[in-house]
Amino acid sequence: MNAHIAPEDSRSLRLKAATRDSHGALDKRIMAGDIFADLDSFARFLRVQYRFHRSIDRLYASPALEALLPGLAGRRRLQQVAADLHDLGQDLPGADMAPLAGDLPLPVALGWLYVAEGSNLGGTVLYKMAARLGLDQGFGARHLAAHPDGAARHWREFTAALDAVPLSAAQEQQVIDAADAAFRSVHGHVEIEFG
Ligand code: HEM
Repeated sequence: MNAHIAPEDSRSLRLKAATRDSHGALDKRIMAGDIFADLDSFARFLRVQYRFHRSIDRLYASPALEALLPGLAGRRRLQQVAADLHDLGQDLPGADMAPLAGDLPLPVALGWLYVAEGSNLGGTVLYKMAARLGLDQGFGARHLAAHPDGAARHWREFTAALDAVPLSAAQEQQVIDAADAAFRSVHGHVEIEFG
């Protein structure tokens, strides 16, 4: 898909290349929703995030995944998104959708977690923009705040562990397909919340 990515590149770089178009389209769609125009618009974005994090929340409680991705449980952000929604006086959405199982096949779980953890990195850009609405890590934008160790370092720790999981060639493709499915699911949440 991307001529600049070679097979010997790390799994996380290959995932980035394989999902570049999906991510770009999602960024554009979300920003076209003018989510920093006012608190109601930002709340729509929070509702998208809540749906996404609710769907993957069980993965963060998996001992098998924690063994491969140390510190995974501490990366869980559903409760922060819930608190952000609560700050803005919003109900929690998503009861109409079933969350994913916590024991997905390993490559599938890795693909979904790549998208969730990567969104944290992009979230630092959104966090700065949220300041325009008076939101921060204490109110309304908790889930976008960078990890105390720094967002980039926190991400590198995740990708190092992700890249080190031994997988077959067929499983590599499953990771990519799952990351793609994760992006498509977020697109679906956007269609529901932004209409
Ligand atoms: C819930 C929606 C979103 C998801 C699931 C998502 C997902 C991701 C993923 C997986 C990455 C990591 C790419 C990699 O390096 O491998 C990333 C990075 C990034 N995202 Fe997003 N993203 C979302 C929304 C946005 C939006 C709305 C913006 C708007 C500006 C954005 C801007 C960025 C930026 C700038 C980076 C790169 C940060 C860096 O390299 O320092 N993302 N995102």
